[in-house]
Amino acid sequence: MQQPARAAIAALAIGIACVLGSAVAQPGGAADAEPRAADLFGAAPEPPTDDAPAPVHDPANPDARRLQQPQEAFSALPPDKRGKPDWSQALRLGAIEPRAAVAGGGEPVQALDLDIVMKNTAQMPYVRFPHAAHAPWLTCGNCHDGLFVPKAGANAMNMAQILRGQACGVCHATVAFSAMYTCERCHSVPQPGQKPWW
Ligand code: HEC
Ligand code: HEC
Ligand code: HEC
Repeated sequence: MQQPARAAIAALAIGIACVLGSAVAQPGGAADAEPRAADLFGAAPEPPTDDAPAPVHDPANPDARRLQQPQEAFSALPPDKRGKPDWSQALRLGAIEPRAAVAGGGEPVQALDLDIVMKNTAQMPYVRFPHAAHAPWLTCGNCHDGLFVPKAGANAMNMAQILRGQACGVCHATVAFSAMYTCERCHSVPQPGQKPWW
């Protein structure tokens, strides 16, 4: 096995240890009457961070239960294979229409339909980076030039960094779908001569 692949698997093992560790560290039990911050999304927080996700509502506020719970809002969205909202699919289906600004109005978002295929993937299928899936909710400046130089092949990165929250992991280990569980959403292009993996 090549060295980079081994590094990715080591990172995977560390990540899994984090999930188990955080599951054990949760306070209280299933019988708790009060909603706990980490329960709002119906699951333990995802690695590599073992912090609870920021609560959408303030669970200490006595009126919190009168507000719509995230699970109810999410029930109208297409689920991914893990039962979490598949935001990219929701966008494609038109189930959501992200605003350019919180209050509405604002500069229209800049559309860009440009796929970049990234080939430094060891035995894994290549990674397709789709600008079209990112531009509706991010400005170019979220990634260029601080995070990625806008030039195909100019940014070295590997899975260990991504799972640690760097490069793609700035979002795909935090707010967007997790690189930990859904390899196929990025590694979607079979290498030449490779049978489809998924
Ligand atoms: C989510 C992060 C992200 C956002 C947002 C983003 N890009 Fe990119 N962009 C990338 C990545 C990653 C690459 C490929 C870098 C690599 O291959 O090393 C790239 C590459 C590029 C390239 C180089 C293409 C080539 O063939 O060399 C251009 C031009 C570009 N982006 C323009 C834009 C513009 C314009 C916007 C806003 C509409 C934008 N990008 C938004 C991540 C982003
Ligand atoms: C600044 C935040 C950010 C960064 C950095 C970022 N992404 Fe994303 N990405 C998102 C968001 C937000 C979505 C849409 C929400 C979701 O699907 O969870 C998304 C969606 C995607 C999708 C669409 C998946 C689908 O099912 O259609 C792919 C593929 C993807 N990202 C790959 C990458 C890769 C590869 C990188 C690094 C080169 C990267 N992203 C970097 C925020 C980011
Ligand atoms: C958010 C997108 C994304 C997801 C999800 C993702 N990867 Fe990657 N992966 C990348 C990118 C980007 C690279 C670097 C590609 C490049 O630089 O050409 C990479 C590279 C790799 C490499 C080769 C480099 C290295 O670090 O060894 C392996 C192996 C790998 N990924 C395995 C996986 C596995 C296994 C999963 C699922 C547990 C996974 N990846 C999920 C984006 C992703």
